[in-house]
Amino acid sequence: MSKLYKIAIIGFGNVGQGLTKILSDKYVLLNERFGVDIRIVAVCDLYKGSVADPDGLDPKMLLSSIELAGDLKNLNTKYTGWNAKEMIANSGADILVELAYTDLKTGEPALSHVKQALNNGMHVSMTNKGPVALAFPELRDIAKQNNVQIGIEGTVMSGTPSLNLGNEMLLAAGITKIQGVLNGTTNYILGEMEAGLDYQIALTQAQELGYAEADPTGDVDGHDAAAKIVILGNLFMDLALTLSDVDCTGISHISTGDVAKASLQNKHWKLIGTVAKAETGFTASVKPEMVSKNHPLASISGATNAITYSTELLGDITLIGPGAGRLETGYAVIEDILAIHKSSKAI
Ligand code: HSE
Repeated sequence: MSKLYKIAIIGFGNVGQGLTKILSDKYVLLNERFGVDIRIVAVCDLYKGSVADPDGLDPKMLLSSIELAGDLKNLNTKYTGWNAKEMIANSGADILVELAYTDLKTGEPALSHVKQALNNGMHVSMTNKGPVALAFPELRDIAKQNNVQIGIEGTVMSGTPSLNLGNEMLLAAGITKIQGVLNGTTNYILGEMEAGLDYQIALTQAQELGYAEADPTGDVDGHDAAAKIVILGNLFMDLALTLSDVDCTGISHISTGDVAKASLQNKHWKLIGTVAKAETGFTASVKPEMVSKNHPLASISGATNAITYSTELLGDITLIGPGAGRLETGYAVIEDILAIHKSSKAI
């Protein structure tokens, strides 16, 4: 007998649609192999509309409405028109899936959504970096008080289990430094520029492929990677970083000429994020670096990301995998839900 999880989704862009596709394609596998019956009971998107049914919405119907009409507004469902706040209060969902756009200055509106859901006794899964980079300790306390879980796997390296690896496997080994290519969009752009494409065309392609943020300035100016450095440093190195602690330079000043020059020297440009313990305090940065072709990060191409955890007991451990994408990030929510299920079975 599988356990029913009703989920309510805020934000029906790339990630929301990717998640819905996975839930449609993998429903039987999740049910039979993992014992979870995951049903979407509400979807709320500022531009595409809002639909809800406590008995469950057909994922195929949601996706075909987007494909045919570009929104959810003509669907005939039990409830329509709820805003995010009303949806959290009324949908009867067990889990809020917060996928709205990331605001790294205030975390809003996602931060308020997440607090409301936790205080309502709902678990939360989010790929939104804003609330995690800005207020994770507070959110963790609220979750604890309400006896619910927060899943954040998708905030770093999409569905590649970078946070799970750090948290479950490496924390006890003493993490002293974390370094990696942590933004898929910029890595894709730099690779395409190397292949001769213009910066702007490469950025447009990254948007079309679902890699970029709703506002891609966050990607190209390095702030998205900086938010990930903040999340990693705070989760695994006992730091209390804010974005202003990260010395951050993006890639927008890198020209086709710079990329060609690097190629002539047998080098690649990579946007590299680092957080490390120092003799006093820490260092944290995001900056483009020219790496030689035999550098471990040189072969990380397209929207692939890589993270190296340097540890006291095991030395360096590197994980390579997708850093962005519809299905890739949607899958992170599945990981979060399975973790919530596992911990509920352990109680
Ligand atoms: N815009 C982000 C990236 C998405 O390109 O890496 C995943 O966080």
